Parts: sequence; structure tokens; C-alpha cells
Amino acid sequence: MRVEGRDRKIAGDLLAHYDVHARRLPWRAPPGSNAADPYRVWLSEVMLQQTTVAAVGPYFAKFTDRWPTVQDLAAAQDADLMAAWAGLGYYARARNLLACARAVAHDHGGLFPDTEEGLRALPGVGAYTAAAVAAIAFGRRAVVVDANVERVVARLFAIATPLPAARPAIREACDHITPDARAGDFAQAMMDLGATICTARNPACGLCPIRDDCDAVLTADPAAYPVKPPRKARPHRTGHGWWIERDGHVWLIRRPDKGLLGGMRALPSSDWSDAPEFTPPLPAHWTSIDAPVAHVFTHFSLALCVHHTHVGADVTPPGAGEWWPVDRIGEAGLPTLFARAAEAVRKERQTHARN
Ligand code: ADE
Repeated sequence: MRVEGRDRKIAGDLLAHYDVHARRLPWRAPPGSNAADPYRVWLSEVMLQQTTVAAVGPYFAKFTDRWPTVQDLAAAQDADLMAAWAGLGYYARARNLLACARAVAHDHGGLFPDTEEGLRALPGVGAYTAAAVAAIAFGRRAVVVDANVERVVARLFAIATPLPAARPAIREACDHITPDARAGDFAQAMMDLGATICTARNPACGLCPIRDDCDAVLTADPAAYPVKPPRKARPHRTGHGWWIERDGHVWLIRRPDKGLLGGMRALPSSDWSDAPEFTPPLPAHWTSIDAPVAHVFTHFSLALCVHHTHVGADVTPPGAGEWWPVDRIGEAGLPTLFARAAEAVRKERQTHARN
């Protein structure tokens, strides 16, 4: 229901709450201060697209410590950046991050463009990131809709259309309630509300500063918004991964730049499919880990069966790769799937040593 003045009241009540309760986050300027560093805002927004504030914290600290400015990041070696990103997922984003830093450093004199359109033209910067950086770093009025904001808006207006068809209506409603001033604080206040009060499950409506203006709170189940589409089953795949060890070193390959986990170090592995062939990359005595390593990607889940062997100095595994010291495997920047596989091998060896 749209009532005169309601939109302005929502923004006012939410910002008043934010002034007192804003989460203190490393990339954030205090409410009302307009002093956020565009580099830090951009970096945090890209990182936050794959995971939670809590998980991003250590990555953000590591990146800004090592690369304090966009020029520093632009000068990073690709492999160093990919390794530092390991564990955050969506590795194409890491490559785009570097391309974007280089574009800002080389084509924009080290200064981020200060409009949504200018930001949108940078490599890898999509509509969400452009709006978020324009609003948070430059105080521009922009409509910033991430998953938290989507949930808050769908509830405020009890939007009954299921996702993703509801997105245009959610965006339009968010546009109506976004104020001309303090759009960055407003966006972050909406995100905070979604993360702490208007949570996906068990929202704390009693604590909400805008409950008086919420349509969903009047319904039997506010958490039913946004309405979810019927769930599609995620396909399941299986693969074989090979741990080839020689003299305290393990054979790591680099995955092709294009595709899943592109450009990341990895264990050699079979294709991942319904029934991959068991074809070890070299003839040897292979031992298989009891339980496959499970990992859920966006479009499928995977069970990776891990097999390990020791080879002699005369053996070079096929394909391009490098011998990596096993006791420094934590520094190889393996993506989560292969880090888990390495951990499974380590655990099994430890159990064997004890028995
Ligand atoms: N999620 C994405 N961007 C965020 C931000 N700036 N503050 C809090 N949570 C976020």
C-alpha cells in the first residue's frame, strides 16, 4: 500500500536507527561522514558479493595490508592475487578485480570514476557494484539492491510475485524509498537491517525501526517474503582427484584461465560428470581416501574421490605443473575444494602413522 509521505518516513526512521546502530566495518566510514575510501568500498563490495561480512573480514584486512591503494593492487602479479583470493570463490571475480584496478590506475589516473555510469564502464563492475560504490563512496543517489535489500523491500511492500520475476517491482519500490541525501548510508542501513533484524529466517520484527510501515509484519508469516520460486534440484557430479607426491612435494597444476576455478592452482583431476572414468594420470600404486570430498558449487554439487600415491624421482606427471612442498601447502592458494582434498590426504596419513 502506498501512502503519501510513507517513503520519506521509512528513510528517515531507518537512517535515525543507523546513526546509532550502524555496524562498524573495516571499509565503512561512520554514519553521515562521507569519508569512505572508494578503493576500500569497491574492494569490499566485490568481496561481499560472494560471502558474508564475517568471512570477508580477514580477506579485506589481508588485501588492504598488502595492497593499500588501487595502484598497489594494479601492480600485483596475477598469481599472487589469485592465491590471496583463494577460498573466497568465484575466481573470475578475482581476475576482474585485477583488470579493474589496472583500468583505474592506467586509464583514470588512479581515481575511481565518481558516477554510476563511469563505474559501470570499468571491467567486471556490474549494476550492483556501480550503484553501491557511487552511493557509498561518492554520496550519489543510486538504487542499491543486494540480497538483503531485496528481502527488506519485498517485506515492506509484501510483494507477492515470486523471485526472480519480482525483481523489477522490488527495484522500483526501492527507488521510491531511496532518499536524495545520504543514499550511501541508506543503502548500508538497509543491508544492516537485512543482516541483523530482517533476517531470512526468524526476523526480529519487534526490534525493527520501520515495522510501522511494513506490510509483511501484518501478515501471518513475514518471513514468507520474498516469495521463493519452486526449488530446482542441483545436479550432482563425481570426479577423481590425484595427489602425486615425490620427496615431500606434491604435483600441482594450474587450471585453464577460462572456466570453473579458472587460473587457480589445483590437483590434477578427471572430468566431473555423472560417471567419470577412473583413469589415473600415471601408472602407480594408488590408495583411495575413504570418503569423497564434498563441495557445493553454484550450479552443481561435487563429490571428489581423492587418490594418492608416491612416485620416484624419475617420474614426471603429464601436463604442465610444479612440485609444491607438502608442508607449505597452505601457501599454495588452493581453492576450497582442493584445500579440503589436501586436508583429507593429511588426515589419512596421520591416522595411518598412528595405527
Ligand atoms: N554487504 C554488501 N555490501 C555491504 C556493506 N557495504 N555493508 C554491509 N553489508 C554489505
